Parts: sequence; structure tokens; C-alpha cells
Amino acid sequence: NANGAKAGKTRNIVEKLDESGKNCIIFYGSQTGTAEDYASRLAKEGKSRFGLETMVADLEDYDYDNLDEIPSDKIVMFVLATYGEGEPTDNAVDFYEFIYNDDVSFSSGNEPPLGNLNYVAFGLGNNTYEHYNSMVRNVDKALQKLGASRIGQAGEGDDGAGTMEEDFLAWKDPMWKALQEKMGLEEREAVYEPVFGIVERDGFTKDSPEVYLGEPNKMHLDGSPKGPFNAHNPYIAPIAKSYELFSVKDRNCLHMEVDISGSNLTYQTGDHIAVWPTNPGAEVDRFMNVLDLTHKRDDVISVKALEPTAKVPFPTPTTYDAIVRYHMEICAPVSRQFLATLAAFAPDEEAKAEMTKLGGDKDYFHSKVNIYHFNIARVLETVGKGKKWSNVPFSALIEGITKLQPRYYSISSSSLEQPKMISITAVVEQQYLPGREDPFRGVATNYLLALKEKQNGEPNPAPFGQTYEIMGPRNKYTGIHVPVHVRHSNFKLPSDPTKPIIMIGPGTGVAPFRGFIRERKRQAEHGEEVGKSILFFGCRKESEDFMYADEWKEAKAVLGDKLEIVTAFSRDGPKKVYVQHRLKEKAKEVNELLEKKAYFYVCGDAANMAREVNTVLGQILAEQRGIPETKGEEIVKNMRAANQYQEDVWS
Ligand code: FAD
Ligand code: 2AM
Repeated sequence: NANGAKAGKTRNIVEKLDESGKNCIIFYGSQTGTAEDYASRLAKEGKSRFGLETMVADLEDYDYDNLDEIPSDKIVMFVLATYGEGEPTDNAVDFYEFIYNDDVSFSSGNEPPLGNLNYVAFGLGNNTYEHYNSMVRNVDKALQKLGASRIGQAGEGDDGAGTMEEDFLAWKDPMWKALQEKMGLEEREAVYEPVFGIVERDGFTKDSPEVYLGEPNKMHLDGSPKGPFNAHNPYIAPIAKSYELFSVKDRNCLHMEVDISGSNLTYQTGDHIAVWPTNPGAEVDRFMNVLDLTHKRDDVISVKALEPTAKVPFPTPTTYDAIVRYHMEICAPVSRQFLATLAAFAPDEEAKAEMTKLGGDKDYFHSKVNIYHFNIARVLETVGKGKKWSNVPFSALIEGITKLQPRYYSISSSSLEQPKMISITAVVEQQYLPGREDPFRGVATNYLLALKEKQNGEPNPAPFGQTYEIMGPRNKYTGIHVPVHVRHSNFKLPSDPTKPIIMIGPGTGVAPFRGFIRERKRQAEHGEEVGKSILFFGCRKESEDFMYADEWKEAKAVLGDKLEIVTAFSRDGPKKVYVQHRLKEKAKEVNELLEKKAYFYVCGDAANMAREVNTVLGQILAEQRGIPETKGEEIVKNMRAANQYQEDVWS
């Protein structure tokens, strides 16, 4: 498979290790960038602490049929995220199909095939999903079966419990110890060795046409972006309209219509749209200020990989400002390990001691930083007591801060009704944390909120004093735009429109079901027969966050009895009522529909709701069919396997 091949680059990993002089390769299978991040961190640590010659590799950039030729004095690490229903991440699909296959065969015919392979494994998963960390578990199993030797434990990080970072830290120390013993590695005083070099580009200014100001690639820089639009190349889409869905002051939920008619993008009802956000101006300023970059924020630089295997994560030449604004996840809660790394560059001994303590003491870090969701700049401001952190090399920031990631949204329009207009339904992320003055604000949703306010000329176009620049400011887009791409999903209506469907979508979990219902309404308007559709929708109060209430009325006017909207207003009565309670009340009807092969869909909160709905459905089946509960659970499992039970959930 040559999908990931870049011109002139080898897909042969053995050749790559030889020509680059590396002895430790860290493969990642990553969807949202966390696994990739952990892979880079392992690479840096392996190098600085143990002098390993490390390289990070995207699984889709190599072939795997010569893994058996990697000699036993080299190490292969796998950092593997599990995605959705126990699936590999997009970049790991080919590898997974190759290795987790009874007929796997290798080039040399050794016996056992991977007898020489020494590997290390860490998985990123979410225990609220049924197939928790199945990717790392299955790959580990497959490698063992092929005779490979694992060093240390196969680690598992749990996003569901919110302990991913601590799970990673707790796993890696014993792993390094085991690796040290196995390979006879000496530990040395960790020294910072930059992976990237910063080259000042005199003669350029931020207005030079060669200089990137947030554009993701050359086509965008030249002002002529062309498809295919994808995770490497967003389409800068006009926002046709946007409005607020809630009728309360302190919470926002956006409905946004994104026009893709100027592109060759397509979508199907139930797919996801990715939004490429921009950091808010105030946070960019804070970061620049505390790191003493303000005076040179518009200086033009190039970033060079000092290692042949490292990839610069954004195009250059560019400016410090553009890198921070468009490419770094500067608003995210900072990691403990990164604070430890920065201790060496503290402005004074006191700050150094504090950073070392924060980096080394899990409980202290938790109580001082983590519970407030402080980002890196806020921690540096507090720890440095206002002093500037001028000694931090910019390369260490590029290496240590995650690349700003696109955020996914379940498309809430129907492709049958509007094939070239995608709608988004997004609740604006803001968390009031006790002890913190201002709320923690999510990057993408507050960016979208600002775009909406600007578009509608609302009095507060820059909410909370935040301003946002548009990616590629010198490309003069008229109107309000947002960079997007589409990701296809398996969350789909039955191909036969007469099949009944049961949809469970509290909160923004209703997004894809708006698309489903509009699609069925449209089919009915065109004289097609459609099956019964029941939506279980939950929100706090009918008068506050019952989104799309008018649309359900319009749909009912067309669909009549074929559409039923069941509501659970959790805070309107004396006691909490959730969608799963309503589901139980409707047990008889639900069971009858399932007997008629109704499809069952769940969308929204993965942490609690989706799991509880799963349990309740098992109970309903048991009760209605007079079978033991374990049997009911088994039926639900089988429904999942047969795609009759589909989930689109996130945490
Ligand atoms: P962020 O800035 O990403 O912050 C969000 C939260 O993540 C915060 O609580 C923050 O504390 C935490 N966080 C971020 N980084 C870290 C870190 N390093 N360590 C610990 N915690 C961290 N949302 C909708 O509103 N509607 C939808 O239809 C929808 N569909 C989705 C479909 C899919 C497949 C997925 C995966 C997600 C979907 N989401 C949806 C969620 C959406 O993608 C975003 O996560 C959400 O909008 C918040 O984004 P944000 O940039 O505003 O917040
Ligand atoms: P609550 O916030 O009043 O507890 C959308 O967020 C709706 O989902 C809200 O009414 C919210 O109720 C509800 N909700 C919260 N936890 C839930 C759970 N575990 N299962 C189902 N619904 C839940």
C-alpha cells in the first residue's frame, strides 16, 4: 500500500533505520494528535536520558512486511490510540489489518517470524467504550503470537477516567527501567537537545508573499486552494448563517450553516465535519508576553528539523505570532511532564524549584494546576511571579506543545435535503471552576461563537475581550469563513427508509438526528413511505435549552404519527429525568419496534449517558421478552455487531 508514501521517501523501515543511524523507532496510531504527542515525548526522553537514537514514525508512512528484519539490538515502540468502536485510527488501519490477521506473512520467513523484535507498547483508550484499548491489546497479542518480545508492560491510558496523562507517566518509568536492563542502557543527566533549529530570516517581513500566516500549505499561501480537502488541507468555507439555539444568558449553543458549494467536498447524513480553530488573541498575547516573544512576534523565521526523521509541524517561513496563533494548542491544560522540562529554563532558582515540584509531585500538580485547567502561559505567569521566561528555547515550545487540532462535529443537516450546506450544532465549552476567576473556555467553540457574533453584527463581536484572526489574513475572503474538512462515518440511516428507527440524543447528541429527521421528512414530502422514527431528547429545561423545538413541529406536520419526540427535561421537575428513564417508560413500544428490526442510535456523551442507555436497553429486552438480564445484554451486543445498534459518542 503506497497511500502514505511521500515522493522520494522510503517505505522500508529497515532501510530507514540504517540510513538515518537510528536504533529506536516510535510508531504512532493517532486520530486527534495525543498518541503522536506521546510518541514525540518518548522519542525526546529516550534520547536525552538514555542516548537512544530515536525517531518518530507515522504508521501509514511505512510497510510492515519486513518488521521481521529489524535486528534485536533495535527497539520498536507502538503508541496506539483506539478510536470509536474499537477501531484503529485512520493512519493505523493498514497496519492493523496486516498484523491482526491469521495469514500475516513476512519477507524473510524466519521462525518464529518476529523472534528478533523487541517492542514496547502503550495504548490510548476510553473505558466508557466497550472495546477499551482494544487496539493496543490486539496488536500486543498479535506481536506475541508472532514471537516478538515485549519490554515492560503494555500500558493503557484511560481518557474516560480523565487519567490519560497520569497513566502515561506511571507506565513509562518502569518501562524505561525494563528497557535499560534489557538493552544495557546507561542513564545520563538529561540534557536538552533541540530537535528543531530556528533560523531568523532577515530580509523578509510578515507582508512578504512567501511568508505563511496560518495557511496550512502552499496552495493556501498562493491564494488558490484546491481539493481534495482533507485533514491536511481544509476548505475555507463561508458561513451562510448562524444563530443561537438556547434561550438562557449564561450558556450558548450554536447552529451554523457552512456552505461547501464552492468546493468538491461531499458528505452523507451522519458524517462528521472538522473545524480548524484559531487561538483567541488574548491568549496569544499572554503567551507571547510571558515567554518574552512580544518584541519579535512578527519576525520571520524558518524552522528546520535537526534530525532527518523529525517533521516540522507547520509550513515556514512564518512568524512567531502565526505559529502560536494557528498551530499550537496553547489554551489546553498543561501537562505535568512539560512543566518538569521547562524547569531548566526558569528565570530564577525559586521558579525552578517550583516547576520541579509541580513536575514531580502528582498531587501538588493536581491541586495547583490541574483542577483549574491552567494553560502553560498562566502557569508560567504565576510561577515566575511576573518575570519573563526569556531562556525557554522556542524549539522546546514547538516540541513540547501539541499541534492545534481540528475539532469534530456530528453534522446536523441532511445531505438529501442540502447536499452543499453542512450544519453544525455545537454547545459552547465554558467551565466555571471553583477558585479560578474566569471560566475555562474551549478553543473551537468560542472561536465559532465569535464568528457568529461577528457575522450577525452583534454588540459583542469579540466575546470576553477575545479577538480572532482569520487563517491566512492576506487572502481577502469576503464574509465570515471557517476552515473545515469532512470525515466520513459509519453512523448511518438504514438504507431502507421504511425501517423504524429509535434515536437517543440528549443535548448536542441530537445533532445527527436533526439530519435523520429532516431526511425522512424530505423523503415523505417526495411521496416515499418512511418508517416510524422516535427521538428521545433530553435537556435541562423546556424553556431554556430545548433546541429545534419548532423544527420538530414542522417535521410532525409532514410525518404525523411516523414521528414521535419524547422529551426528558432534567431540571423542570422535582427529580432528574433522563432519556433512559423515558426509554424505560416506553419499553413495550421500543421492544416491538426492535422486533421489527428497528435501528437503534445513541449520540452524545460517552462518559455516562451512552453506557447507561446500553444497560437500560438490555434490561428492557429482558423484561419485555421474559429472559434473564444477561441474555438481554447479549442481544444488545449482537445488535451492535450487526450494526443495528450504532453509536456516535464523545467525551
Ligand atoms: P477544547 O479547547 O478542546 O476543550 C474541551 C475540553 O477538553 C475541556 O474540558 C478541556 O479541559 C479538555 N482538554 C483539552 N485538552 C486537554 C488536555 N490536554 N488534557 C486534559 N483535558 C484537556 N460537540 C458538539 O458540541 N456537537 C457535536 O455535534 C459534536 N460532535 C462530535 C463528534 C465527534 C466524533 C467527536 C470526537 C466530538 C464531537 N463533539 C461535538 C465535541 C467537539 O469535537 C469538541 O470536543 C467540543 O466542541 C469542545 O471543543 P473546544 O475546542 O471548544 O474545547
Ligand atoms: P442534568 O445536567 O440536569 O443532569 C443534556 O446535557 C441533558 O443530559 C441534560 O438534561 C442533562 O441533565 C442530561 N444528563 C446528564 N447526565 C446524564 C446521564 N448520565 N444520562 C442521560 N442524561 C444525562
